[in-house]
Amino acid sequence: MTQTAESETKIEQEGTLLSGVRVPFDQSYIAKHKGARYYSVLADVHRYLKPRAYLEVGIRGGHSMALAHCPMIGIDPRFTLDPKFDLEAADRDPPVFLFKMTSDEFFAKNDPLAILGTDCIDFMFLDGMHQSDFLLRDIINSEKFASKNSIIALHDCMPIDIAMTLSRSERLVTPFPVVYPNFWAGDVWRIVPILMKYRPDIKISCMDAHPTGLVLMTNLDSASRVLSDNYEAIVEEMRAMELASIGLSNFAQTIGITSTAHFLGEDNLTTRYSHFAAG
Ligand SMILES: C[S@@+](CC[C@H](N)C(=O)[O-])C[C@H]1O[C@@H](n2cnc3c(N)ncnc32)[C@H](O)[C@@H]1O
Repeated sequence: MTQTAESETKIEQEGTLLSGVRVPFDQSYIAKHKGARYYSVLADVHRYLKPRAYLEVGIRGGHSMALAHCPMIGIDPRFTLDPKFDLEAADRDPPVFLFKMTSDEFFAKNDPLAILGTDCIDFMFLDGMHQSDFLLRDIINSEKFASKNSIIALHDCMPIDIAMTLSRSERLVTPFPVVYPNFWAGDVWRIVPILMKYRPDIKISCMDAHPTGLVLMTNLDSASRVLSDNYEAIVEEMRAMELASIGLSNFAQTIGITSTAHFLGEDNLTTRYSHFAAG
């Protein structure tokens, strides 16, 4: 092989970031997560831990919301609920409170504890705008209404290729292969390393839920101001994080991914979250 041919082959096997860093293509994707769908884990949390109040950001058609069996709040500026989930009936029991607005607007104007008639919200699922600054605000705002043993679930924090973290226009020019064209996870992957750094007190479980992972957070602190006090600095820090230069398999190793099999079923959940819904 001539020298030119050799270097051309090398370039075909790696991408160059704007920062000039060259990244091998095999660090730009990993195999599909092998766990159960995230809906199965959410369903088991509702079925076996029996949260007394539920809040969801980003409800779209109501699929994940319909898994709840307690008074619940759903927030989404553009939801269109599938009638089969029967979430919009006025006399529904348990009640469903729907807010057609962004989560920022909801938290600025409403007191979810007063709406739900409870002193804390046992379970929250944050699945709204998949941008890390939005998710950071959703975490800050929702933790205020959590008890220590509440659970906050996050979606899409474990992308399996770089392309699914990029915007549509970025995808057109990315040097990396688009291995899974049907998924979009946004850049919310940045949140888990940030929580590990700034909030080591939160117990974080990352699991291999299909398609882009599920995170469960507990040992929460409604009085903590660490994230809000450092909000601007954290947003800057997140902007500087490049998944391609970290590498997908290194990222997965750093956050530690567990099988959903350890979070499904009554025994697993009641053992892991033994004080859940105990205030
Ligand atoms: C991935 S979908 C939610 C899917 C749903 N949780 C499920 O699992 O079936 C994301 C939703 O977030 C909503 N969304 C976008 N920006 C939002 C915001 N700022 N606040 C709340 N929801 C938002 C979108 O309208 C969309 O319906």
